[in-house]
Amino acid sequence: MKEVYICRQEEMADGNVRILRVDGLEIGVIRHKSRFYAYRNLCLHQGGPACEGVRMPGVFDDVDEEGRFLGQKYDEDDVHIVCPWHGYEYHLSDGTNVCDPRLRLQKFEVSERGGNVYVSV
Ligand code: FES
Repeated sequence: MKEVYICRQEEMADGNVRILRVDGLEIGVIRHKSRFYAYRNLCLHQGGPACEGVRMPGVFDDVDEEGRFLGQKYDEDDVHIVCPWHGYEYHLSDGTNVCDPRLRLQKFEVSERGGNVYVSV
């Protein structure tokens, strides 16, 4: 395993994505709420560039104590990566597929030292 330098922390704004190619792998590094995440840029559906899709909060049904449906809301704590080809959604936090948790994007460790960001590959 080796560490690959990505950038200085301040070089990537929240919401930005960088795509790296390391040893034949394409890896998407995503910054969200000041945290960095890295996943293989390969959707488990048909191989689309999953990390290049939009990121949006998950949606949940808001139901009161008596079971009445009040509407749907966004869950800002559960952001999804949406594959641009056909819309498969993955949890940004761990790369698992929203509908089928057996599917998971390959995750890479990200470390930050001295203001620099690295991915372990
Ligand atoms: S290739 Fe990603 S949803 Fe189909």
